[in-house]
Amino acid sequence: MEYTAVVRRRRMIRNYDADRTVSRETIERLLELAIRAPSAGFSQGWHFLVLDTTDTRAAFWQLATEPGEPDRWLRGLQSAPVLILALSDKAAYLDRYAEADKGWTDRDEAHWPVPYWDIDTGMASLLVLLGAVDEGLACCFFGVPADAHSTVKDGLGIPARMNIVGVISLGYGAPDHRSPSLRRGRRGLDQVLSYGRMDAGGN
Ligand SMILES: Cc1cc2nc3c(=O)[nH]c(=O)nc-3n(C[C@H](O)[C@H](O)[C@H](O)COP(=O)(O)O)c2cc1C
Repeated sequence: MEYTAVVRRRRMIRNYDADRTVSRETIERLLELAIRAPSAGFSQGWHFLVLDTTDTRAAFWQLATEPGEPDRWLRGLQSAPVLILALSDKAAYLDRYAEADKGWTDRDEAHWPVPYWDIDTGMASLLVLLGAVDEGLACCFFGVPADAHSTVKDGLGIPARMNIVGVISLGYGAPDHRSPSLRRGRRGLDQVLSYGRMDAGGN
């Protein structure tokens, strides 16, 4: 598919055909795209934890959600045959930038006004989402609730120092409900683009 068509076609799908699995070959093809993402200092401090069996997915959902009947949103996401936890590793960046060519041997986090470890994992995740669209698959990127991060990390053997940047659900799409967020409408260039200075007035 042409790149612009992939970008325009991509949208978050929150309901899946639970009977159609996605092969590990396909998953790895998508993750081969992910590792082409740019990263600060080429640190590549990302990791992808794939849950593609009934047991591993059930373990994740149990760790990540409150007990009780899932609502429609959760039921939809839980029908995804594959979940990919996109993890970032700050230590990989602090280590990389302590090397001679960068020289931040103090490993001071004040050098990092924005968390490039999370950003790079986000960039890698977008490549997976776009790759999924190109493969005719459906996907969604969603967050783990704040109070469940430690529980999910402990339960799935994820080192405590890592961040769960988000989760990518993947599968073949089933009819889903439009996200209420979309009512906000897409912000156009007239709202998000400035040249020269932001406070110059007019657009
Ligand atoms: C960082 C990030 C976190 C998101 N978290 C959630 C989430 O927790 N649950 C969810 O249903 N969608 C989540 N989304 C999807 C957004 O709601 C969605 O991208 C937005 O409404 C625009 O819709 P579209 O991606 O289908 O164009 C997230 C997207 C991003 C980029």
